[in-house]
Amino acid sequence: GKDILDVQSLTDDEVHLIMETAARYERVMKSGGRLLNMDGKTLATLFYEPSTRTRLSFETAMLRLGGTVLSVADAKTSSSSKKGETIYDTGKMIEGYADVAVIRHPETGSAAELAAGSSKPVINGGDGAGQHPTQALLDLYTIIKEKGKTEGLTVCLAGDLKNGRTVHSGAALLARMGVKFIFTAPEALAMPASITEGLKKSGVEVEINPDLDSAVAKSDVLYMTRIQKERFEDPEEYERLKTSYEVTNETVKKAKKGMIIMHPLPRVTEIAVEVDAYEGAAYFRQAANGVPVRMALLALVCGCE
Ligand code: CP
Repeated sequence: GKDILDVQSLTDDEVHLIMETAARYERVMKSGGRLLNMDGKTLATLFYEPSTRTRLSFETAMLRLGGTVLSVADAKTSSSSKKGETIYDTGKMIEGYADVAVIRHPETGSAAELAAGSSKPVINGGDGAGQHPTQALLDLYTIIKEKGKTEGLTVCLAGDLKNGRTVHSGAALLARMGVKFIFTAPEALAMPASITEGLKKSGVEVEINPDLDSAVAKSDVLYMTRIQKERFEDPEEYERLKTSYEVTNETVKKAKKGMIIMHPLPRVTEIAVEVDAYEGAAYFRQAANGVPVRMALLALVCGCE
């Protein structure tokens, strides 16, 4: 088995295999077929932070593959971490109870700590402001489905690029797929310099443009993100920045023809509900794509594809 802790550890061949396997599973499900690849296997989901999509889509993915699920929501208060048990020791326990585990935790590096304790595959479901690799994979899957390719596309990453783990994983993965980036953020929430400089050094085109209207005019994909309230130390700073960007029908009018709008969700105020009627509003389709992509990941890390 293989842990999925970040996107950098995945080879291009592995990424392509995940995309192909997800597409195959999606075709089987759409044609009414049943998959039993994970029959007799158990998934443990350990969530120390809130989640709707990641936990539920992993759980339904496991059930749709014929497997079973052990779920610890609110793990911070309902598991023995409340009594001081380390994540490493939790990994030692989980390996005896489950065949694969998904963890979400507020601290960067926590998924790696669980993986150090467990001999079974561990999947990072979001570690603090670090990475969210399975989100990046379902984002890639969505772009391929919606636009038919990634090569040559201009992708605008907008919102909280400092704290948003989905854009940290997403930028690293999409950079390998031939896209150009526009980074649209208030200065205080800019993409970490280490990421921007790393992309530029590897030859990826990056434009820094805090003006959303001019950014959407040349983008094939607008990837909006929520301002990450839970990562702010100063509540006043959050209040000042929380409405930095709001995509409305007026924004859509200024967009490049055929632009799709993505968002890892949940949204707060950064995309108005009126935009949901726009045919390029892909964010709910994107969330649904999490199911076949996570089915592929579970099966592949367990050798059951
Ligand atoms: N996109 C995402 O990770 O959503 P949840 O926080 O609801 O899992």
